[in-house]
Amino acid sequence: MRARWPRLRSFRLRIALGSTLTALAAILLLYAMASYTIIHRRAAIIDHMLSAHLAGPGFQATPQALWPATDAQLNASFGGFAPPDSAPLAHALLLVEDAGHGPQYRSPAWQRVFGDASLPRGPGLHTVEGGGQSWRIGSAVHGSVTIWVAVNRSLSDAQVRASLLRFAVAIGVLAMAMGALAWYLAGRAMRPVEHLTGVMVRLTASELDQRVSAAEEDLEFAQMVSVFNAMLDRLQRSFLQAARFSGDAAHELRTPLTILQGELERSFAQAGTAAAADPVLEQGLANMLDEVRRLDSIVRKLLLARADAGQLAIPLCPVDLRPTLEELAEDIGLLDDGRQVRLTLPEHIAVRGDAELLCQVLQNLVSNAIKYGLPGGWIALSARRKGEQWRIDVGNASHGIAPEHRHRLFDRFYRADQAHQRRVPGVGLGLSLARDIAMAHGGSLALAEAEPGQVRFRLSLPAA
Ligand SMILES: Nc1ncnc2c1ncn2[C@@H]1O[C@H](COP(=O)(O)OP(=O)(O)OP(=O)(O)O)[C@@H](O)[C@H]1O
Ligand SMILES: [Mg+2]
Repeated sequence: MRARWPRLRSFRLRIALGSTLTALAAILLLYAMASYTIIHRRAAIIDHMLSAHLAGPGFQATPQALWPATDAQLNASFGGFAPPDSAPLAHALLLVEDAGHGPQYRSPAWQRVFGDASLPRGPGLHTVEGGGQSWRIGSAVHGSVTIWVAVNRSLSDAQVRASLLRFAVAIGVLAMAMGALAWYLAGRAMRPVEHLTGVMVRLTASELDQRVSAAEEDLEFAQMVSVFNAMLDRLQRSFLQAARFSGDAAHELRTPLTILQGELERSFAQAGTAAAADPVLEQGLANMLDEVRRLDSIVRKLLLARADAGQLAIPLCPVDLRPTLEELAEDIGLLDDGRQVRLTLPEHIAVRGDAELLCQVLQNLVSNAIKYGLPGGWIALSARRKGEQWRIDVGNASHGIAPEHRHRLFDRFYRADQAHQRRVPGVGLGLSLARDIAMAHGGSLALAEAEPGQVRFRLSLPAA
């Protein structure tokens, strides 16, 4: 059966709480046992002293004039059980009666505490309430006089309570100190895990060569670290294999495709000029040529995709992107479909990277804006610096991109609109490639939030 309590998600908190609560439970058990022993032992000691006083030889020969001194002495000896600030004569009370029940001596407070209540006689000690307090009372007969001694139990209890309260406060402080120590120690124990998490977070495809040093870790974590490192080895190997495979395959396909394209173009030209021109053959060749060109475009993009995840060591040269963006804007202006270009560019857009690859990114974005923007609409190119980054936005008038497509736009071979796949040429590689290049430059490419009726992609690159 599953635990009914909500599970604490933090392992560190669970360790700290568990150890603190265990220690606290042990201390509280000890505290309870000690309190019980102290309370009972003290009652026994008071009874023992009271019995000893009553049975002692002192009372037998006390002349009447000495009873006040005996009273003071009793108070002094039981005063040790009372809090230091209690009234000096409230600790014990004395009553001496002669044979005719006439009082020979009575403590000054006796009447106020007990009045004329009948007092227990006979052997043994009794507990009696008087004056709002609890008293332990005993009597003894010495010759013709009967003596009662009452000891204040309430004062003794108050002293015990005050001491126990001080202990309880000390336990509270101790518990907080234990909690803080346990939290600190649990944090230290979790450090290797945090270290591993940090490495995993930093890991991107381009940093698969990172390893965690097992030598520095505690024995218990060293094995986990080496398993993690071995997993990274395998991951890196298969990642490189996959990347190399697509790159190699694309590379191998280029030559036959170029030959095929050349041959088809030649055949197409011949078919057009032949005396007995065959329109069916001509159409067939044109279709084949289209498909071969499409294949060629895929292969070229796959080759470029090797830039992804640091497969290409990108030479970081200073590049100004403003001229590139201006050229692209001019190209859009040449389109003869009434499309309007909005250009908002600063004097220079200085970044570091590979000019050709960065140009490829912007071209992909602009070609998308042309392909998927509304005909007769607008295309906006803008750049502004935000802190240490350049933000280059490429936007266009559009019906928008449905939410279900947004998170997949950057997947390879993904095309958002089924209708586009037939009407608009393309293979679905442009954005994924552009994002890989941006990331290889330490930047990012994302679909930005935009108002309805437009689509905006944002390329962020570290400023030079
Ligand atoms: N500016 C845009 N407006 C609306 N949809 C867009 C825009 N840019 C991209 N898309 C959608 O994202 C999809 C993926 O774009 P991507 O550039 O990766 O591929 P593509 O343009 O279809 O092919 P190619 O590989 O030739 O670039 C597109 O098919 C399109 O549906
Ligand atoms: Mg595209």
